[in-house]
Amino acid sequence: MSEVKYSIPRGTQDILPGESEKWQYIENKARDLCARYRYREIRTPMFEQTELFARGVGDTTDIVQKEMYTFEDKGGRSLTLRPEGTASTVRSFVDQKMHGWADQPVKLFYIGPMFRYERPQSGRMRQFVQFGVEAMGSSDPAIDAEVIGLAMDFYRELGLKGVKLVLNSLGDQESRENHRNALISHFEPVIGELCSDCQARLEKNPLRILDCKKDRDHEKMAAAPSILDYLNEESKAYFETVKSYLEAMGIPYEVDPGLVRGLDYYNNTAFEIMIDGEGFGAITTLMGGGRYNGLVEEIGGPETPGIGFALSIERLLMALESQGITLPVNHGIDAYMVALGDAAKAHVPKLVHELRSAGLSVDTDYLNRKMKGQMKAAGRLHARYALILGDEELEAGTIEVKHMETGNQETIQISELAAYLQAGSVKGV
Ligand code: HAM
Repeated sequence: MSEVKYSIPRGTQDILPGESEKWQYIENKARDLCARYRYREIRTPMFEQTELFARGVGDTTDIVQKEMYTFEDKGGRSLTLRPEGTASTVRSFVDQKMHGWADQPVKLFYIGPMFRYERPQSGRMRQFVQFGVEAMGSSDPAIDAEVIGLAMDFYRELGLKGVKLVLNSLGDQESRENHRNALISHFEPVIGELCSDCQARLEKNPLRILDCKKDRDHEKMAAAPSILDYLNEESKAYFETVKSYLEAMGIPYEVDPGLVRGLDYYNNTAFEIMIDGEGFGAITTLMGGGRYNGLVEEIGGPETPGIGFALSIERLLMALESQGITLPVNHGIDAYMVALGDAAKAHVPKLVHELRSAGLSVDTDYLNRKMKGQMKAAGRLHARYALILGDEELEAGTIEVKHMETGNQETIQISELAAYLQAGSVKGV
């Protein structure tokens, strides 16, 4: 054996059997929900041109400045592992001319790994899986409410309690410009007291200052001008309509004018879903999203409004765990074949193959265990039935079928075995 020990890269994880079933359950739930809302799946590459994220996510953001996995390929191109899914989805929208589709707005979802070079802690990984949706082509506030409703339904259907929807409006271009000027006037006199990142942000993107982790407690932060005081009539009306739809849908929310989001493409509606409660640690944001009306144009497409959200499955699982919620994951199998004797053993491959072909989940012994060991394995694998085949039974064309839960045992014709098991199959339970 080699002396070298290879360890898993920091901020990544192996998802092992036992755990992966939970992921599948959650992914199925996401797919099922998206089907009901008629969002269809898109799969984009795991890497893109670096410039896409610099432009799309914004070059004053932490993601672009500090967190991207950027590399040069052998052709000398600068590529980046996607740190999020929106820029890629919009790139594809433009590339594939989805604005020309008859089916508008274009409603898409994705589930896949994202990569950010962050300081790992619980709930903050360097590779994490986002489930996200993007709706492009409509600026009806009803679609804002739809997207938020989908996210809330997702957590509700998984049984998560204590989720809180936090809402803000970042306004349209005019509102943002006015707010931007107010922020510059507010922070300019004290800019020397803020971190070097914030100094650079003042002219480029003063909104980012409000999201700074280092200067969070500076006295000027709490008193910073609120975007809500700078919304023009149109933006104000838009926000009011979104809120009224949420109210009509019975979705409670809190407005937080300090919610600015960590990516640059947002305007009007911005939202996050947070979770209260102990045992969850420092990370309390489960999901984030918002409207990005200028992004499609920024990426080279026609003027197209858009809105979406993304959440990570890692944080969702943490939240479920902190509330002691177990997902209804089925670990069991229909049957475990126990073979005793050489003739019986030789018959097993054909028999289990037939049962599997008939749609049953079946396993058997490959370690030459004794009867007791094989029965133990059947129990460990939560088999509904143990199928006990001895040489004599084989000769008579029968098999002993033991119902593991009750201990009842019956002699069944091998020719009728599949039908017998199907009647009591664990599939679909
Ligand atoms: P984001 O707020 O950067 O937004 O990330 C969305 C969600 O991804 C977070 O709320 C969190 O659940 C998860 N997440 C982010 N970073 C990590 C990490 N290092 N480890 C684990 N989970 C993480 C976006 O990504 C936008 N693209 C969302 C969006 C879609 N906006 C419009 N459409």
